[in-house]
Amino acid sequence: MATVFLETITIMSITGRNVHIKTFGCQMNKLDSALVEAGLRNAGFELVGSVKEADVVLFNTCSVRDHAEQRVLSHLGHLKHIKESKPDFVVGVIGCMAQRLGVELFKQPAVDIVCGPMQIAHIPRLIEQAMKEKKKALLVTEEIRKASSDGQELERFETEFGIDDAEIPGQAFVRAMHGCDKFCSYCVVPYVRGKETSRPPEAIIEQIKKLADNGIKQVTLLGQRINAYEYKTGDKTYCLADLLYMAGEVAGIEWLRFVTSYPSEKYFDEIMKAMCAVPKVCRYLHLPAQSGSDKILKMMNRGYTSAEYLGLLDIARQIVPDISIAGDFIVGFPNETDDDFTQTVGLLKKSKYKNSFIFKYSPRPGTVADKRLEDNIPMDIKNKRNIELLKIQEQISGDLASEFVGKTVKILVEGPSKKSRRSIEDKPGDLQLIGRTAGDWIVVFDGPETLAGKFANVGITRTSPLTLFGNLV
Ligand code: SAH
Ligand code: SF4
Ligand code: F3S
Repeated sequence: MATVFLETITIMSITGRNVHIKTFGCQMNKLDSALVEAGLRNAGFELVGSVKEADVVLFNTCSVRDHAEQRVLSHLGHLKHIKESKPDFVVGVIGCMAQRLGVELFKQPAVDIVCGPMQIAHIPRLIEQAMKEKKKALLVTEEIRKASSDGQELERFETEFGIDDAEIPGQAFVRAMHGCDKFCSYCVVPYVRGKETSRPPEAIIEQIKKLADNGIKQVTLLGQRINAYEYKTGDKTYCLADLLYMAGEVAGIEWLRFVTSYPSEKYFDEIMKAMCAVPKVCRYLHLPAQSGSDKILKMMNRGYTSAEYLGLLDIARQIVPDISIAGDFIVGFPNETDDDFTQTVGLLKKSKYKNSFIFKYSPRPGTVADKRLEDNIPMDIKNKRNIELLKIQEQISGDLASEFVGKTVKILVEGPSKKSRRSIEDKPGDLQLIGRTAGDWIVVFDGPETLAGKFANVGITRTSPLTLFGNLV
């Protein structure tokens, strides 16, 4: 299934083994970067925080929208200049864009390594090769929709290295599923991440136990359609609810999350009941709607109507009354009329999301929407619809946030907030910290940096639409 394409180039011998990884895209990519980092550390490489300190730079890339790809291409353009003055420098493009574009990426003069998401186990070897043998290497999965042989190697890599801390102290991602078989008409993911495959429950639980032994407090199970998790062994079929019950038994893990869910009935009640029954499962659901118009949903090949979608939200709220829900929307899908958009506005207002992610339609080469439908909504209309949805969501989020004033919330502290390394009130020894509630609300407060990775209680004093502010209790 895998192809290796080698071509000799002139790079000098390298002594430094400092690697910097820059990650774009979704949680899957964050997880892959964490795995690659652990694999590289094991192979004697050192991970560094900037391109300046690095001998090797890897971009873990995303293809979901054109903008995501353009950002990577622009970074590669900058590296070309660095490479001119530092010929030993090695540059790799890994992840979804590597899988999508393959050999084409060598048109970028800076690029030495191109490696798809199913081949990440080979990255340490590819880097060694680029360093010692002065070779360019391409390793992507041929016939990605049929790929399975690579899976075993990836599974071994995942089992061995999926037990290290990720970027945020105390938190880790664990893959429950690979790929996606849903083929929403606009989406590139099935073409770059391959066939939908659920990992064996025992491999997942074993990994969670090891993470707990390493001090991890929160595990997020990942899948493009995590609620479709299904693993058959003997006469038993495991679904996500089973995984949640099993993971809920792992000592040391205090919070469990799962993303992203797909609006379908199968297993939905069971999963919501597990959320209610297992105290460790955070009462949070990310359930993208994409549109409120049945005509557009059909063209998107989403397989549900807006009424069916709202029915699922009702079930979720009936079973888990205090659930916090997030959504996704795409505006400016081909042929989206004002009337279609009004229906999306209607669905957004009814859904009462904690927050939603709103994207402008971006045609992706190779997808059904790109082949069959013209990208006929002008950018100014896409922008206008985007802003309108954001404004409505901001109002809803602001109202929901304000209900927290005067309450104390339990949060898992992530660390100092990016914007300010100083405390809000300038207290010596304290920093402005950031954490999240079980319902995924961001909380900003002052405290010692040593709280990162630990739970804390914060009394909320004021709010903005996306953030709660308060003081340690
Ligand atoms: N598997 C997840 C998310 C996949 S990508 C799911 O199905 O929900 C994350 C989000 O990007 C999607 O929910 C969708 O809103 C958006 N997206 C995907 N393809 C897009 C495209 N071609 N243009 C604009 N937004 C897109
Ligand atoms: Fe893309 Fe649809 Fe699969 Fe999500 S479910 S990854 S939007 S094809
Ligand atoms: Fe992007 Fe790949 Fe994730 S295309 S959204 S990084 S699965």
